[in-house]
Amino acid sequence: MKNIVITGGSKGLGVEQVRRFLEEGCKVYVVANMRGDLDEVEGDVVYKETDLSNWSDTSWLDEIYADCGKIDGLVNNAGMHLKKAMWDVSPEEFELVFSINVKAMFAACGRYAELHKEQGGAIVNISSMGGLIGLKTAAAYVTAKTAVLGITRSMAVDAAEFGIRTNAVCPGFIDTDMTRAILAKDPARREKIEGRIPGGKFGTPRHIANAIHFLISDQAEHINGIALPVDNGYSIAS
Ligand SMILES: NC(=O)c1ccc[n+]([C@@H]2O[C@H](COP(=O)([O-])OP(=O)(O)OC[C@H]3O[C@@H](n4cnc5c(N)ncnc54)[C@H](O)[C@@H]3O)[C@@H](O)[C@H]2O)c1
Repeated sequence: MKNIVITGGSKGLGVEQVRRFLEEGCKVYVVANMRGDLDEVEGDVVYKETDLSNWSDTSWLDEIYADCGKIDGLVNNAGMHLKKAMWDVSPEEFELVFSINVKAMFAACGRYAELHKEQGGAIVNISSMGGLIGLKTAAAYVTAKTAVLGITRSMAVDAAEFGIRTNAVCPGFIDTDMTRAILAKDPARREKIEGRIPGGKFGTPRHIANAIHFLISDQAEHINGIALPVDNGYSIAS
């Protein structure tokens, strides 16, 4: 049985990742600041309440490692969006977006490597198509999700010698609470976006969970340092 840690695994994309790994018989540790939809999930799940905005504190990873002895896969999925242009972002907002989306991930990757130097493992960091292309009025988010790809490449080259692979997934427009909340303020935008997606449809949390599961699995044993768009072609369309 594999042990998987999913940050932000209590809602939206994360909770579907939990379901996906449970289907494979994994034990799943969820690290999040709320139980969210976890009560609807049945299986071997351990919930660890943590505020990742205290980004340098990686004791949650140590505690999980002490419990299971090897974390086969770490999914750094927790994140927050901020829909603002660059000039509207306050220093406090920028700090929060960076603490959760970037700094906590940076710290977790580093600690994971220290813990698994002898054992190897796999990490998937969740970026966004905002890590690949510009998105209007999402300056702090786009900056943060681009930094996620820097963390991923750095870990991929630095930790390869320990047998640790690190990859990123860049979800496109996916139907979750977060996307719905953003688009509820601007309903005409959803139609416009669908018109720009080559495949014409938003993705599902399952599409993202499948990609993450693949990259963590041994099937991806020769894949290290990539940023995989799962966006129905949005980021490569003109
Ligand atoms: N939903 C999309 O369409 C979409 C698209 C591209 C990228 N993403 C990325 O996918 C990831 C998940 O997005 P989602 O839509 O499922 O988000 P969500 O808002 O539905 O869930 C966020 C999760 O992160 C956790 N979290 C947030 N702040 C935290 C904190 N300070 N400490 C601990 N946990 C915290 C929450 O508890 C929750 O489990 C994010 O990194 C997001 O940027 C989402």
